[in-house]
Amino acid sequence: MTAPSASGRFITLEGIDGAGKSSHIDALAAWLRDHGHEVVVTREPGGTELAERLRELVLHAPMDALTEVLLVFAARRDHLVHAIEPALAGGATVLCDRFTDATFAYQGAGRGFDLDILAGLEDWVQRGRQPDLTLWFRVAPATAAARRAAARSPDRFESQGQDFFERVDSGYAARRVAAPQRFAELDAGADRAAVWAQIEAALVQRGWG
Ligand code: TYD
Repeated sequence: MTAPSASGRFITLEGIDGAGKSSHIDALAAWLRDHGHEVVVTREPGGTELAERLRELVLHAPMDALTEVLLVFAARRDHLVHAIEPALAGGATVLCDRFTDATFAYQGAGRGFDLDILAGLEDWVQRGRQPDLTLWFRVAPATAAARRAAARSPDRFESQGQDFFERVDSGYAARRVAAPQRFAELDAGADRAAVWAQIEAALVQRGWG
């Protein structure tokens, strides 16, 4: 068991819908707690009362692309100020199911929204805050589509076609190229135990286990 650091670490989980990231987040939180970390589990859009209300709108209300971007970043701002930054300052490890890479992947690559505007909003809203580690659950869009078909009724993103998710995947790939040391790419097409082994390896490699 290693001693937790004074300032907490910020870990994000990313991937296209159906990649399976949500099914690992609780196990990851438990593993980190076993290794001496205080852990806060949260998600985007969401994570505060206001941001969860914005999430409901983003996922279900029809809107244009700019409105969608502004609501996602408004939710992120509230989440950072009231949840993520205080938790990190208190020494907790924050596990966040999606963050700004999702905006570049979904709104940027998926919807075709201007990447320079997204980068400006990223700077403005985050003031330099970036994840310390991003676990990218990468799966073939066709595999993810088959998994989604077996799941619950789709939201505005989950109902998109495979070409949309091909673009989202390339959006994640571009973010990885821009920040290779931050990203751990996982083969999320593997079975559950094999995906978990890759998650554990990424943390141990960083000396966090
Ligand atoms: P998701 O995280 O997959 O939650 P659930 O497992 O409950 O469906 O759903 C959130 C959706 O929001 C997902 O389809 C991606 C989308 N999203 C964006 O389009 N942009 C963003 O910046 C974020 C954080 C999420």
